[in-house]
Amino acid sequence: MYPALQHEIETYEKRTPKSRDAHGRAVKRVPLGVGSNYRFYSPYPIFIERGQAGSVRDLDGNEYLDFNLCYGSLMAGHCHPAVMKAVEERLHTGTLFGMPHGLELELAEEICARFPVEMVRFTNSGGEATMYALRVARAFTGREKLVKIEGCYHGGHDAVSVSVKAPLELAGDPENPTPVTSSLGVLKGTTASTLVAPFNNLDAMERLFQKHPGEIAAVMLEPIMMNVAFVMPDDGYLAGLRAITKKHGAPLIFDEIKTGGKLCWSGASEYFGVQPDMITLGKSIGGGFPIAAFGASREVMDGIVQQKIYHAGTYNTNPAVMAAAIATFRHVLTRDAYRHIEKLSRKIVDGYEAVIRKNGIVAYAQGAGANGALLLYPQRIRNYRDWYAVDHDLWHHYWFAMLNRGVLAQPFGWDEQWTLSVQHTEADIDRHLAVFAEVAPALAKAQQERLAAGAHSH
Ligand SMILES: Cc1ncc(COP(=O)(O)O)c(C=O)c1O
Repeated sequence: MYPALQHEIETYEKRTPKSRDAHGRAVKRVPLGVGSNYRFYSPYPIFIERGQAGSVRDLDGNEYLDFNLCYGSLMAGHCHPAVMKAVEERLHTGTLFGMPHGLELELAEEICARFPVEMVRFTNSGGEATMYALRVARAFTGREKLVKIEGCYHGGHDAVSVSVKAPLELAGDPENPTPVTSSLGVLKGTTASTLVAPFNNLDAMERLFQKHPGEIAAVMLEPIMMNVAFVMPDDGYLAGLRAITKKHGAPLIFDEIKTGGKLCWSGASEYFGVQPDMITLGKSIGGGFPIAAFGASREVMDGIVQQKIYHAGTYNTNPAVMAAAIATFRHVLTRDAYRHIEKLSRKIVDGYEAVIRKNGIVAYAQGAGANGALLLYPQRIRNYRDWYAVDHDLWHHYWFAMLNRGVLAQPFGWDEQWTLSVQHTEADIDRHLAVFAEVAPALAKAQQERLAAGAHSH
């Protein structure tokens, strides 16, 4: 760790003693002291007291402009009035029935009006949605194998716990990645059916289909890779995947847990002009409440109708959560909101680019819809292997320096990205950029020294 980074971490520790104490207590009962592995980082995570609109406050009373927004789940921002009102009203009429109540149809109508699907089922998390989407695809095709993209994340279930963050020494040939299981305890028999392809590489995808004729049940991917920072598909890549999957009779599944609500009105199919066979939605469609969905054509979903495919869950379509999602679609994710977000996105990306150029940082900024990132690379990254080469210490320096100056620039982790909220203002973006401009000279200096010294993070 170099001195400027060390200084930022010491500053962090001085500013957040109550979080340190809270974490020290939590680790005694809760593994890592957090509710999801991603939330832990060294020396300890900040503990949040409250959130309002585009900001959060930690236990020590520090205020942060929040561009983490629960890993992109809050394009609505915290406590959006329309969402709060809908939930509060609903809370007084019962929170769980285990019987239908009508909001299923209302929300399904909202989704089918925007996205290229005819039927939808709801789940409580994105991981469940991708798990069931995959099951439906397997049942529909009568095939077993899944192709996933190296570096894509689809939740914690076994079939997709493959080559999420594979160490390069195990990952094999970039053109033909070796599937690497990403957790202990994952069933080998399940992951044996998961094949792995590199992003932005149609030849590699075609080769997998040639090698496994009639065996591939689905190709599932994030249309923009947002679990390795921010990797856009090359022009024509998604259309090429569409053609290959169609030719081989395998459903193409866009995992739109991240892109679905946030990219634009109808998500990736509108943005890229490519229609998948199935989609999954989650995060920002709930306005801060736990809901996700998977949908497809009537024909593909028919296995559930015929009761040949099992999908169930006690908490599915919890009415308060459904009310939140309906309010989110009707009052938050509006056409005006997407125009506002587009304006903020242009401003933040251009602002980052200007600071990068002024300070000579070897980096670029990129965004689409509500998401984007500072990417500390010499040129555009196109896949997992490109992403892997980032300088971890430099990234830590950026993140802690921003945080120490009141900007939670994105979730912790160089695999994440910022989210803009409808409740963020242009003044919030100006403040974010002013802080980046303050941080940039030290970042540039550290980067130059590290490049000159040939520093490598791996
Ligand atoms: C693309 C994608 N799919 C699925 C998931 C899993 O969603 P959840 O955390 O709600 O289970 C995530 C979570 O970050 C995601 O980014």
